[in-house]
Amino acid sequence: MKNFEGKIAFITGGASGAGLGQAKLFSKAGMKVVITDIRKAALDKAVPEILAYSGRDEADILALEFDLTDREAYIKAADKTEEIFGGPPHLLIQTAGVNSFGPPEASTFEDFDWVMGVDLYAVVNGFVIFVPRMIKAYANKTDCHIAITSSWAGWQGDPIAAPYAASKAAVNNLSETYYMALKPYGIGVTTITPMAINTEIYDAEKYRPENFSNSGYYWTDELAAVMKEQCETGMDPVTLAEHLKRGIEAEQLFVVPYDNYYEMIGKVNDRRINLASPEGMAKEAAAEKYREENKVGEMDKGAFHEKAKPLGFGTARADLDWVDERKKRV
Ligand code: NAI
Repeated sequence: MKNFEGKIAFITGGASGAGLGQAKLFSKAGMKVVITDIRKAALDKAVPEILAYSGRDEADILALEFDLTDREAYIKAADKTEEIFGGPPHLLIQTAGVNSFGPPEASTFEDFDWVMGVDLYAVVNGFVIFVPRMIKAYANKTDCHIAITSSWAGWQGDPIAAPYAASKAAVNNLSETYYMALKPYGIGVTTITPMAINTEIYDAEKYRPENFSNSGYYWTDELAAVMKEQCETGMDPVTLAEHLKRGIEAEQLFVVPYDNYYEMIGKVNDRRINLASPEGMAKEAAAEKYREENKVGEMDKGAFHEKAKPLGFGTARADLDWVDERKKRV
């Protein structure tokens, strides 16, 4: 997709962080933008911010408050978009997401259901609701595209974010699948897999719905404050949106928004190859031993982990008696 002017974008999680950056950029590119979010206050704040950034009219933006995991509400939002802007989106950007941290063996059903509900099933909802509408309205006639904000966590397992890493891996695979399937219709798919972004994701636990409140993870406001500091060191959301836009224009399936993307993906692939043979397993074990002895590796690096680890980041709830004591706050 190269032509954005006058077209419609539908951005999930568009009230904050990465989604807000995308809303600003694509509004400035001349699109009519629908932003959706579960947080009304964030939507109310985002609308004037987007308009101030893009210089567009109020009539070019539609803010819809609903929970993306509620399929009926989602279908109504799709109908509303057609009613107000005259058609389904030409550009669907699925960005809303939440995160939660703790050892996989401490996870409850609620930990999985909440995170996978938003990060995976809401994306499934987006595909199921919009793909038929987009095909009927635009296939092989008008430029259209589906984009997703996944995460670097989608490329590998994560010992303190099982539901998140699983959702993002599934989303990467789903993107590739739709990318292949939608080619005959002329609909592209692009998925961006960033590391830290300067957003409000540190606050997600605050609006975890009541029915998912039974978590096996240890979490405190103090941890959210440290994570906020970490987020503030992340990429600017509009810069991230620019990477995404270039990927969409190039009809690229994946965007790894860093100069050393080749080396980054190479390391992931090397590890996969190692994990699939006895010789490779021995290499991985030696590398892990080296990392442990020399205190190198992602988890031991950087100011964030120095600060967050002693506060119990990524640990389990204290009363779970099957969880290794080293995985609880000491
Ligand atoms: P954010 O918290 O600033 O924005 C996410 C938005 O999604 C929030 O406004 C939230 O209200 C909304 N949301 C959550 N659950 C929802 C639901 N059930 N229905 C409707 N809206 C809902 O966080 P951020 O970081 O901008 O997150 C956007 C995406 O970026 C997520 O998919 C996240 O996994 C991904 N990401 C974030 C990274 C980071 O460092 N912040 C790193 C890599 C990926």
